[in-house]
Amino acid sequence: MESGSGRRDAKGEALKRVKLVAGAGEIIRSVGISALAIALAVYAMVLQERNLAVAMLGGTVLLIATSTMLQVSRAVRQLHRQHQTARRAAMRAERHYFKVLRRIVLAVEHREPYTRGRSRRIAFLARRIAETMGLNRTQCRLLGLVAQIHDIGLLAVPDRILNKPGRLGREEFRSVRKHPETSYRILEPLTFLGEVLPAVRYHHERMNGSGYPFGQQQDEIPLIARILAVADAFDAMTHDRPHRPALPPVEALNELRRCSPAGYDPECVAALEKVLNARHLRAAHRASTVPKHPDSPRPRQTPSTARLATS
Ligand SMILES: [Fe+2]
Repeated sequence: MESGSGRRDAKGEALKRVKLVAGAGEIIRSVGISALAIALAVYAMVLQERNLAVAMLGGTVLLIATSTMLQVSRAVRQLHRQHQTARRAAMRAERHYFKVLRRIVLAVEHREPYTRGRSRRIAFLARRIAETMGLNRTQCRLLGLVAQIHDIGLLAVPDRILNKPGRLGREEFRSVRKHPETSYRILEPLTFLGEVLPAVRYHHERMNGSGYPFGQQQDEIPLIARILAVADAFDAMTHDRPHRPALPPVEALNELRRCSPAGYDPECVAALEKVLNARHLRAAHRASTVPKHPDSPRPRQTPSTARLATS
């Protein structure tokens, strides 16, 4: 490995030297030609051949101008190539940073059974809701990505607060309220997520202004943040927490409906319902197409498999 990278370095250095020598050669050639033309023009002036002198000087100016333009054009092309290379390197670095953050989130989630897989579930729901609401493909894809790490700011909140079984005190809640802004600051360098970063910052805002960190209301809250809020809340309700057991999906959906439009955007809740029904129908279809043994017991009807009917 080391010898391979050493060979690559030596090759790169050699290439740089060749380019340097080639560049110097071009400069020497154009300076030489210009000097020769000027010398001829001076010689013509000495011989009092006015027309020849003017032609030689005009040709020299033309030659210098053409040579300069060619060099400028070559330099611009080279700068453009370097810019593209730097851009690709920056994008690679951003993707690497994103992967590192995602691994940190997954590792932290894995410590507690009630948070395990949370970010992936929320990302899936947020993306599906966005697709159902007709957001464009890029927005849906980016929202799916950012949703996986939207709560990374919770790392700054002590575990004793996050895992506290009872109600949080004022100071404890103040600490939790900071996490959307902390997440936003951590993710801000990821320019490829720029379009969907507001979802991170405002995902705890509520439609009536009772949310945090800024108390924004209605359309002040970006649509992507309203979508993430619904996916986040649904996942939180349908999984056990230290202070309460999980709700069945039907009850969680009813709770979201009850809390809208005051808390959640009703259109996002309706889109979530469509997503859940579509998943249920797909699951039912898969179950109906699997050949069963005639003696096999009938599957038990659980709240999670029950139809998410509208009330
Ligand atoms: Fe959050």
